[in-house]
Amino acid sequence: MMDTLKIRGGVTLNGEIRAQGAKNSVLPILVATLLGKGVCVIENCPDLEDVRSSMRILRLLGCAAVFEGGTLTVDSTGMTRTDIPECMMREMRSSVIFLGAILARTGQARISYPGGCELGARPIDIHLSALRALGAEITEKNGDLECRASKLKGSEIILPLPSVGATENIMIASCACDGVTHIKNAACEPEIEDLQNFLTAMGARINGAGTPNVTIEGGAPMHGAKYSVMPDRIAAVTYLSAVAVAGGRVKISPVVPEHLASALAALSEAGCGISAGKDYIAMSREKPLCAIRPVHTMPYPGFPTDAQSPLMAMCTKARGTTVFVENIFDNRFRHAGELARMGADIRVEGRVAVVTGVEKLYGAPVACTDLRGGAALVAAALGAEGETVISELYHIRRGYENIENNLKALGADIS
Ligand code: UD1
Repeated sequence: MMDTLKIRGGVTLNGEIRAQGAKNSVLPILVATLLGKGVCVIENCPDLEDVRSSMRILRLLGCAAVFEGGTLTVDSTGMTRTDIPECMMREMRSSVIFLGAILARTGQARISYPGGCELGARPIDIHLSALRALGAEITEKNGDLECRASKLKGSEIILPLPSVGATENIMIASCACDGVTHIKNAACEPEIEDLQNFLTAMGARINGAGTPNVTIEGGAPMHGAKYSVMPDRIAAVTYLSAVAVAGGRVKISPVVPEHLASALAALSEAGCGISAGKDYIAMSREKPLCAIRPVHTMPYPGFPTDAQSPLMAMCTKARGTTVFVENIFDNRFRHAGELARMGADIRVEGRVAVVTGVEKLYGAPVACTDLRGGAALVAAALGAEGETVISELYHIRRGYENIENNLKALGADIS
């Protein structure tokens, strides 16, 4: 049967949601389990297609991986293989992080270019030049990357832009380097700090994550570790945006409210009432929404590109005009066309989208274009009159655990 969601909008949403573990943390953490021969126990692990893809890769490489009750146990003692076939690489973008880890563990690796959401060109040049700076020899043949490093050596690496994935790849590879690696202009996303905390639990000597300067003292013996993944800030923003469109009241926990500061500011400007405690956010949306100041996506702590589409769903019903400027990816407005099928008024010009609020959205058949764009359609459907049928759901399954049950628990009419 085709996997589709049917949503009948117009119901206000009320209740509580337990936030899932962060997708963008757990993926590099699972990769990093390769660094130590031993057992890693990863708690608060969300059940996502991307996590399942990572498990398949780990098993192919010779590791044991068992997922039960939100805890994923990886034993990488028996790792034997050093190559990942193209079909597995294509399943998600973060498969490229395996390159740094396999190289660190074995001194050789063969992978192909990674897949992931189509958001415009997503090169991996920064990953490759950084690994070369650490001493890897990388050659490209027929779309395959052949990598060798008899010895990795610490180095100073200045990133041309603060790439999240490249920062993670370098951190992981540097754990096996001789000497010290300094990353300058590193990405500062909270997920990078989560990775640092995990690597530290495995025995690494690393500090600075969360700032543009990360230092890794290579060569520390790495072992298994037990770790709990931080809460997913993007899933939290998605649910808040959904309640903002539909109206109602929600409490989400556990979350780190500081991780969501820029998105909370936008929701509050639009007219949502927000209160945050140490590990929760409560939000109510009672009065009509109003347009907000231009939203510029930026590296953390700026407004996250991953929250752009859910917030856009909200703005389709906000009185006035809101401008979105997408600074991170070339082509991340593909959801705009689908939102337009539901009656939204959105004009896209390159990296800018101009959203003029409409009185009503209407249910329509729509298709997910990518992971976060798909989540935006769910949010919009909850605030639309009539029935929306959402197809191509596999995009959403890559990053959201239990989305229909979470929304059902808030009272949504969804099946
Ligand atoms: C990660 C997140 C993704 C998020 C993105 C930006 C994961 C699994 N995914 O993706 O959800 O949207 O950060 O916050 O954590 N770039 C290059 N060359 C490179 C690498 C990146 O030009 O070698 C460019 C990209 O095309 C993009 C920008 O740098 O324009 C930022 O990308 P990056 O931070 O690397 O994103 P990802 O790690 O792929």
